[in-house]
Amino acid sequence: MRGSAHIITMRLADPTALLTTPVIPVLTIERVADAVPLVRALAAGGLTVVEVTLRTHAALDALRAIVAEIPDVVAGVGTVTKVTEVARAVDAGAEFLVSPGTPANLALALADAPVPALPGCATVSEAMDLAEQGFPVLKFFPAEPSGGVRWLKAVAEPLPHIRFCPTGGVNAANAAEYLALRNVIAVGGSWTVPQEAIAAGDFARITALAKTATGLRQRR
Ligand code: 3PG
Repeated sequence: MRGSAHIITMRLADPTALLTTPVIPVLTIERVADAVPLVRALAAGGLTVVEVTLRTHAALDALRAIVAEIPDVVAGVGTVTKVTEVARAVDAGAEFLVSPGTPANLALALADAPVPALPGCATVSEAMDLAEQGFPVLKFFPAEPSGGVRWLKAVAEPLPHIRFCPTGGVNAANAAEYLALRNVIAVGGSWTVPQEAIAAGDFARITALAKTATGLRQRR
């Protein structure tokens, strides 16, 4: 249980202003050389906010390349699972941080970070705990296996102050249903960035997928 010394009552940095698109592509980048053409392709389709996941050795170098070469894009780092990764991601230029789940020590590190965070939660108690710590927007992960749209609808009344970015199983077929919910600020997902398209250098396909995703909802 969290000690009272750690209770933070103020709201932490709010990522809302950064989340200007309905869909945040979740990127798993194997080769640094793919990073810039991939993100340019997404931006050409209107997806100008991206999450680079810490699932590959190339991730932080890919992020550095994106930040250096495409300054108009907002680039965050996702799959932050360890406290030490917070500073590494920020040092590499991350403009926001995302975690799949949020143990207490990681929550403290994210709260102390100089950029906004979307800490991950999958239950009502986790969401309440993170909101109490001041995080205004939470990642709901893995969204589909955890209850998806029905879960988000059910928590809207008891937790009206919390907004979510559902991710995990969100795709072209169900994204609009999530985006119609008042407690959903954006959705995350990998469907606009198929690994085979990246590997084949088929960036036109990625731009086409991004355009469709951008059209799912006008910017709020
Ligand atoms: C994430 O880390 O946000 C998810 O792995 C993305 O989930 P998806 O691949 O089902 O879109």
